[in-house]
Amino acid sequence: MKNNLPIIALDFASADETLAFLDLFQKERLFVKVGMELFYQEGPAIIQQLKERNCELFLDLKLHDIPTTVNKAMKRLASLGVDLVNVHAAGGAQMMRAALEGLEEGAPAGKKRPSLIAVTQLTSTSEQMAQEELLLQKPLLETVVHYSKMAEESGIDGVVCSVHEAKAIYETVRPSFLTVTPGIRMSQDAADDQVRVATPAFARENGSSAIVVGRSITKAENPVKAYQSIKLEWEGVCQ
Ligand code: C5P
Repeated sequence: MKNNLPIIALDFASADETLAFLDLFQKERLFVKVGMELFYQEGPAIIQQLKERNCELFLDLKLHDIPTTVNKAMKRLASLGVDLVNVHAAGGAQMMRAALEGLEEGAPAGKKRPSLIAVTQLTSTSEQMAQEELLLQKPLLETVVHYSKMAEESGIDGVVCSVHEAKAIYETVRPSFLTVTPGIRMSQDAADDQVRVATPAFARENGSSAIVVGRSITKAENPVKAYQSIKLEWEGVCQ
């Protein structure tokens, strides 16, 4: 990743809505995340539009399929020129290696491949849900640390995890391994459907490499002001 800006989750239904939101920020350089809703609606064209606006781009499609399918899909995604993409670690080590190879093969000649991270457990997953619905017998944290180690050994660049897990992850992986953390809320904000939430200051103090923030910015009365407060708190300028 080129910079350490909070990553804004552009969870919008259309390009028009997305570009109107970005207009609020005038020419400020942003790191944005395109998820399934927007990508499935607009396709690769939205990536080009965001690149034209000089945004750094995380394409969050969370691939999870057999290794060959993920490998071929990643070749296509690498050709879009995005900076960061992801898979589900639950797809296993072979799938993660196949994803990485796909990115290396698909990156345009002379260009660096996108960074690749693996989702450990969604931040909407609670301990109770993990045990009762997913039948995970081990504590959630143990699963997340295990998935992170497996991701590192598969050669990929980092994980998506909860802020509350970053410290434990760094006890087993190299310091340069990325921990990208959604589930970020300012102390006064609603958690919505997120379960394992934390503030930007808590994320910084607990070792996150990057934070992903959606509704606390996109649904704020003044999104630019909300973004600036989150950015300052993340940078440790104020709390
Ligand atoms: O609005 P909110 O800040 O909760 O948005 C979080 C964003 O991060 C959403 O786009 C969601 O899809 C994404 N995400 C997540 N948990 C993960 C991986 C991605 O919330 N483990």
